[in-house]
Amino acid sequence: MAKGKAATVFFCQNCGYESSKWMGQCPGCKEWNSFVEETVSKSPHMGAAPSKSALRGASVSVPSVLSDIAIKEEDKLSTGIGELDRVLGGGIVQGSLTLVGGDPGIGKSTLLLQVCRNLSGSGHKVLYISGEESLTQIKMRADRIGAFTRDMLLLCETNLGEITNVIREQKPEAVVIDSIQTMYNEEVSSAPGSVSQVRESTGILLQLAKGLGVSVLIVGHVTKEGTVAGPRVLEHMVDTVLYFEGDRHASYRILRGVKNRFGSTNEIGVFEMREQGLAEVQNASEYMLDGRPEDASGSVVACTMEGTRPLLVEIQALVCHSSFGIPRRQSTGTDLNRVNLLMAVLEKRSGVQLASCDAYVNIAGGMKILEPATDLGIVLAILSSFRNKPLSPKLIAFGEVGLSGEVRSVSMARQRVAEAAKLGFDTCIVPYVCAEDCRKAGGIGIIGVKTVQDAIDRVLA
Ligand code: TYD
Ligand code: MG
Repeated sequence: MAKGKAATVFFCQNCGYESSKWMGQCPGCKEWNSFVEETVSKSPHMGAAPSKSALRGASVSVPSVLSDIAIKEEDKLSTGIGELDRVLGGGIVQGSLTLVGGDPGIGKSTLLLQVCRNLSGSGHKVLYISGEESLTQIKMRADRIGAFTRDMLLLCETNLGEITNVIREQKPEAVVIDSIQTMYNEEVSSAPGSVSQVRESTGILLQLAKGLGVSVLIVGHVTKEGTVAGPRVLEHMVDTVLYFEGDRHASYRILRGVKNRFGSTNEIGVFEMREQGLAEVQNASEYMLDGRPEDASGSVVACTMEGTRPLLVEIQALVCHSSFGIPRRQSTGTDLNRVNLLMAVLEKRSGVQLASCDAYVNIAGGMKILEPATDLGIVLAILSSFRNKPLSPKLIAFGEVGLSGEVRSVSMARQRVAEAAKLGFDTCIVPYVCAEDCRKAGGIGIIGVKTVQDAIDRVLA
């Protein structure tokens, strides 16, 4: 394609798949009717290639010697929010591009405004650019969060050309773009929020971040599937991807690292939405177990690991007689196939007649947990509900359950036990192979079990 010549390309608005002709169904994400024609005036690889305006003023590339590059500790900028720093791997890396995604109203703008407040409070120059809200709206939100220093800069703008100029002029250390879907580049003719606009805009921000050493934090809206619009394009371009999760009805929010070029990705940060913005939740386990019914059948506490952090969660099960031929099975917060498998194990290996029962399994508090270490907890919750026999409220159980009904070892067992001991639990059912190690944690009784039947005999006989 000749340079400068306008051409049209069809983009899937759901996943960013690019095609030279229209298609009814996207081969990438299988969505129907998602192709929209967009005019592109550059090379087809414009996502990767910087735009003309971004390149203006860039220096000639010179390769560096790897061993000569010094890493300074202060290259990481602490956000002043411990939970966020943990997910980021210590803080915001200078010149990095971070994407914060999440459902509308979950608290993305609030979190980033709090970051700006903390950074400007500790003497850093920050610029908050909003394409969604007016200055007064931002001011109203800021008043709820608390006092700001005088130096924090605000800008309401959606034109990236203007934004680039302001950033070059002001030279802030950190910039927040709220949100990438509202930004547009005049050189691209398609509408803001379309795949080509979003990736062109991100490309420009990438050049700015790397060229000027500015840390850029981008807010991204999610599609109904829960991914940022144009996800593959965006996620490839940025250094760090964080997603806000959480139940709309609960006040807690979980920030999860999905991609991180500067740290581990399996860390989470737990926040609570308060009147004065987002507050860190230090003791997440206590928070998750809040309001747990004591002496109710079908309720078991299990321990899951979120990164390096143990988290206690309540598993609830309700098993009742089915009035239809095909029993109903439902799970919230955990994998339904896994629940079906565990019920089959219980039926076959322990002779529990579950075939004619409806079963509902729920992770209290709206957490989503896929870790197999919760298997034993799920099995015990199901059986406790089936027999209508409550377990001791001071008991926790964890372990992976295999198809022969064996309880297999899990990682970091000792940390899980220590967390339970810290919260006042007195008995822990753990895989037999981990029992020795778990006893070292101290302060809590350990029961090592080899099979599901062993566990049942010890606590539900
Ligand atoms: P917001 O940060 O605007 O969400 P996003 O940018 O992800 O769309 O969050 C707005 C929600 O948070 C809104 O429903 C009101 C609530 N909220 C509080 O409860 N307390 C607060 O101090 C603030 C600023 C917002
Ligand atoms: Mg917002």
